[in-house]
Amino acid sequence: MNPTKPATDLSSESASKTTRDTLSITDNRTGQQIEIPIKHDTIRAIDLRPIKVKPDDFGLMGYDPAFTNTASCQSKITYIDGDKGILRYRGYSIEELAEKSTYIETAYLLLHGELPTKSQLADWSYHVTHHTFIHESIKKFIDGFHYDAHPMGMMISTVAALSAFYPDSKDIFNPESRRKQTYRLIGKMPTLAAFAYRHSLGMPFVYPDNDLSYCGNFLNMLFRTTEAKYRPNPTLERALDILFILHADHEQNCSSTAMRLVGSSHVDPYCATAAATAALYGPLHGGANEAVLRMLVEIGSIQNVPAYIKSVKAGEKLLMGFGHRVYKNYDPRARIVKNIAYEVFDVMGINPLIEIALECERIALEDEYFVKRKLYPNVDFYTGLIYQSMGFPMTMFPVLFAIPRTSGWIAQWEEMLLDPEQKISRPRQVYLGSDLRGYIPLDNRK
Ligand code: SDX
Repeated sequence: MNPTKPATDLSSESASKTTRDTLSITDNRTGQQIEIPIKHDTIRAIDLRPIKVKPDDFGLMGYDPAFTNTASCQSKITYIDGDKGILRYRGYSIEELAEKSTYIETAYLLLHGELPTKSQLADWSYHVTHHTFIHESIKKFIDGFHYDAHPMGMMISTVAALSAFYPDSKDIFNPESRRKQTYRLIGKMPTLAAFAYRHSLGMPFVYPDNDLSYCGNFLNMLFRTTEAKYRPNPTLERALDILFILHADHEQNCSSTAMRLVGSSHVDPYCATAAATAALYGPLHGGANEAVLRMLVEIGSIQNVPAYIKSVKAGEKLLMGFGHRVYKNYDPRARIVKNIAYEVFDVMGINPLIEIALECERIALEDEYFVKRKLYPNVDFYTGLIYQSMGFPMTMFPVLFAIPRTSGWIAQWEEMLLDPEQKISRPRQVYLGSDLRGYIPLDNRK
């Protein structure tokens, strides 16, 4: 402290030191010191490259398997605070959107950044509704599958097939083309899903009914039989609409990352969406809702829950529907889903597996193994109970995740395409393999 200088100067000096948004790094191998900028609590990995031992070294990299501490992009679409259990689409809380919005309006919000005006919503809804039909030839793809083919395999195949039916979709930097593919993808995913479901039952396909809402029409294509006009049950229609809102986007999850990564090669959006759907299929991601139901059926009764929890704590199994890479608190979506469950049960009858699910949650929320690891129910824990009560087979559960997530995937894809900092994704590696070695003729190999 310099006594002649008034404290303020020193404090301004010390203040200037503390307010410099930089990271000072010393390489103890060489004594090299560099200072790199910090912005948004992040450093750019490329700023590490000047740190070298020898001048011709490649330079320092960050190593981050599964990207647990790596930001792949800057985004304005979805915000999650995992510790506080906060989820917002374009700044609007998931709780408010689930209560006051519709899926088709939320899809507009994710894609355009603002809630639509009445005329914008009417125009948006009109175009999505008038893109629900699929080319008749696609029915031949669906008919080619066995009746018991998993509908996610069918979805991945038929979404990718759309690429061949819409070659104009390759014009990805034309906003009009992107808009048209967006209408088509959001409009056709429910049709592809419903046709896959009807194929599994050996029932005729039901064509879209443009008088119905997005979810009402989906229920129509799934469940209509001999009636001239399908009337969706309003409770089920609204429950599905809220579930679709909850599943619409979730920032840089595995499938959105697949959408961005595959899209970064400038392939058309149908192929990128097929890749994202494939990523979602995995039991650690969107396939978890199906895995939860299979787990609850395997447990079979409340009496068997302690034994199952014991096998989880022994590391033999996972408690499916629990845990999350980001949420270290209750997934805000799981809370909303749990409430919807009882509204559906009022209409369809209570799902007996709910008791086993509640017992799993009760034990897990008290048990040190789960508390220490901050394992809470995620969005997939209760959704399957609702879908089963609505009449869906377990194999359709991940499909019910992929349909609404399509709007989030497209929003992420378009943001990536228009981000001047983004280009084809091509990570580096840490090579630990063999050094150069000579070829050994076959007769000389041991
Ligand atoms: C979704 O990313 C997203 O946003 C995804 C999603 C979205 O909307 O897009 O939210 C949707 O995919 C939800 C997650 C659905 N998956 C499941 O419910 C499957 C079960 N959950 C786990 O597989 C796991 O929790 C993950 C995959 C969800 C997260 O895994 P992480 O972040 O890699 O955590 P981890 O595997 O490093 O686990 C940390 C510890 C480990 O124990 P230790 O090695 O420290 O002893 O917690 C344990 C894990 O074994 N653990 C579990 C567990 N999840 C983690 N133990 C038992 N049961 C579980 N479910």
